[in-house]
Amino acid sequence: MSSLAQKRILLGISGGIAAYKSADLVRRLKERDADVRVVMTAGAREFVQPLTYQALSGNPVHTDLLDPAAEAAMGHIELAKWAELILIAPASAQVLAKLACGMADDLLTTLCLASEAPLAVAPAMNQAMWRNAATAANAKTLVERGVLFWGPAAGSQACGDVGPGRMLEPDALVAEVESLFRPQRSLAGKKVTITAGPTREALDPVRYLSNHSSGKMGFALATAAQRAGAEVTLIAGPVQLATPPGVKRIDVTGALDMRDAAERAADLCDIFIGAAAVADFRPAEVSAQKIKKKDDSERDSLALVKNPDIVAGIAGRSQRRPFTVGFAAETEKVVEHAQAKLARKKLDLIIANDVTAADSGFNSDRNTVTVIDANGSTSLPPALKTELAEQLINLIAERALTQ
Ligand code: PMT
Repeated sequence: MSSLAQKRILLGISGGIAAYKSADLVRRLKERDADVRVVMTAGAREFVQPLTYQALSGNPVHTDLLDPAAEAAMGHIELAKWAELILIAPASAQVLAKLACGMADDLLTTLCLASEAPLAVAPAMNQAMWRNAATAANAKTLVERGVLFWGPAAGSQACGDVGPGRMLEPDALVAEVESLFRPQRSLAGKKVTITAGPTREALDPVRYLSNHSSGKMGFALATAAQRAGAEVTLIAGPVQLATPPGVKRIDVTGALDMRDAAERAADLCDIFIGAAAVADFRPAEVSAQKIKKKDDSERDSLALVKNPDIVAGIAGRSQRRPFTVGFAAETEKVVEHAQAKLARKKLDLIIANDVTAADSGFNSDRNTVTVIDANGSTSLPPALKTELAEQLINLIAERALTQ
């Protein structure tokens, strides 16, 4: 039986020449026994007639938010609840902008706001529109909210341009949908604790020491571990990210709070992953009042004390020791330095990232990592953190469960 059998997929089609490819997408999803309902924007209806999708999906096509007849059959809230996945293909620049702003001025955007189902988009637009700073900012916002981006691919475009912005081909989109629904329960029954984001070390009531970690890597790992069936506790430093569905989140600020929360969670977990960028030092004293400038001196100094090493504390346990994974943020001799950390911190596995590489490391949607354990190292190709997280969780599950 196909992993898509009886899966309820709401396919949103927005205005773009790639709308014709979505007819083939509907056909391929139906071949796999998925239950497909199509929602078209006004722009999409300029390219392809609703009847095409109605014939292929075997269901009426939804077009209007305020259509009494359609509302009587299946109201928009009912449709939002019905969906197990909303996939917008093609997703135009306009639809991405509306989603990023939380607009609900037509049926498709209203459904996206009203639904708790995962939302995936297959962008399709002119390469300059995709590269435009406004579209890039909208895409970044949506990725941070957990929206899945499938594509775009690069190549020749209907307008004659060449570059990124082509909708993924229907077979590639079907593969993404299948992978989303495929039961990857490699961590069923397991408890996983993940630290993510920076820590903030207070200096006085208005200042702190911190770093550029956004939490994206750790949150992506939490999502992937939850999808793999684990009960996930995510200990998050101060970050601007939504909690992944089904994950228990504990917010902390400083390294000492993170250590306390991590130690408590580690007592109960099978796998511990330290993806947080914990400050190595904190101010020796936290001033109760805002520290004043000394007018007569050009320089001042700050006394620091070392923070506890959270991941090393957990890996060094003699009892109730989970399989312990660390990250290594390196700027040179990446593998060599990460290997030294693996040994010094007594970790089972370390994931090294070169944080100076372009479009990688801190606060990027992408990363480039090498996985290292006592048996050697494996470099993974650069990818979105969401995609890498799936691979890393599978790899960690495999190693942790065969230990
Ligand atoms: O958050 P993003 O913007 O997505 O960026 C992701 C990331 C670059 C922060 C992440 O991939 C990463 O590399 N995290 C570890 C950053 C780090 O602090 O590296 P480190 O080499 O200094 O520390 C090594 C390991 O020890 C890490 O697992 C760290 O969590 C842990 N550590 C470090 C210091 C400390 N006091 N306690 C710790 O547990």
